[in-house]
Amino acid sequence: MKFERLKIRKVLNTKSNLTIEVEGKFNKGRVRGSVPAGTSAGKHEVVSLPVDRVIRKFKLLKKKFEGVEFSSLEEVDSLLHEIDGTENFSKIGGNLALAISYVFLKGFALNEGLEVFEYLGGKKLPKPLCNVAGGWGKESEIQEYLIYPKVQRSIAASIFKIAEVYRQLGKMFKKYDKTFNMGKNYESAWAVRLDAKKILTIISKAIEGKGLVIGLDVAASDRWDGKTYVGRSEKEHYTFLKRLVKRFGIGYVEDPFHEDDFETFAKFTKEMKRVMVCGDDLLVTNVKRLETALKNKSVNTVLVKPNQIGTVSDTIAFVKMAKKHGLKTVLSHRSGETDDAIIAHLAVGLETDYAKFGTSGERVVKLNELIRIEEKIKG
Ligand code: PGA
Ligand code: ZN
Repeated sequence: MKFERLKIRKVLNTKSNLTIEVEGKFNKGRVRGSVPAGTSAGKHEVVSLPVDRVIRKFKLLKKKFEGVEFSSLEEVDSLLHEIDGTENFSKIGGNLALAISYVFLKGFALNEGLEVFEYLGGKKLPKPLCNVAGGWGKESEIQEYLIYPKVQRSIAASIFKIAEVYRQLGKMFKKYDKTFNMGKNYESAWAVRLDAKKILTIISKAIEGKGLVIGLDVAASDRWDGKTYVGRSEKEHYTFLKRLVKRFGIGYVEDPFHEDDFETFAKFTKEMKRVMVCGDDLLVTNVKRLETALKNKSVNTVLVKPNQIGTVSDTIAFVKMAKKHGLKTVLSHRSGETDDAIIAHLAVGLETDYAKFGTSGERVVKLNELIRIEEKIKG
């Protein structure tokens, strides 16, 4: 498969920041790939270069991809690594690498007349794990409150059930927080200014009898100053989380501790038995960091964000390794998303257990794509 022409443009992400979109034209048509960005990005992620620098790099390296016959996506992704030559894509930018990788993935799929999820060989729908409330930065005790179904009949039914609770929560938060005026955060979750216990009490009420479970993304690195978690000692922070998990029957906890604390993660995972303890900033979709986590038994669940690692092939390798060791997998959006629904295809294509997507606003693009994919799979 070869592209006759590749071009790049600046587009907006959902935070109104500029990002890049690469477009490829080949005999079967055109495909586009754009790249999201994180806000509470992990420090071990690959480098994301500023848009203007990326555009200059693209002009220099596009000749190596245009008009060249590639037989597999791995070939494309290996070439990206070879051109860059660093461990963290600091020369060409992980954002540029992923945009090119996405375009080729879509190109290979279109070439075979398949959708991306079909090309990747996936048939199983993930469970949606959706952000319904949260804040950002040090002011909020927990970055994200999520809900997901205990069991799933169909993903469409799960999505509609979560959406109903989300709408209900908007009304409930208004009752308890007089400053709340249906405002949303970066991920289109309700931006409510109540303490964690109050928010969890309200969510528990909203999900009662609906077969839904609460999850948290603590994003603890953002609260960690090298000694404490915003006013709580390490021990107090640990106890705080443990109590929340027990009291509210929380089934999923992401990044409970800072991004280099493999040991406390391990202690928590061991103690919280049936809880999914997930590494996001801890692992950054990186197989080397996953190896360390496996050695330490730090997590039983992994977050998967392709732009943390820079290519689709690296993302696939990470998911494969996690599955091989019996870990649960969660394909995730970023706080600065694009209008590209490719992550819905990756979640199904790689058969991850969960898809961590937003519930409202521009975020529904991904949920709606999952609904269409389910329809196609079930026939
Ligand atoms: P990010 O936030 O996209 O800003 O990293 C989401 C998360 O922490 O999961
Ligand atoms: Zn996270």
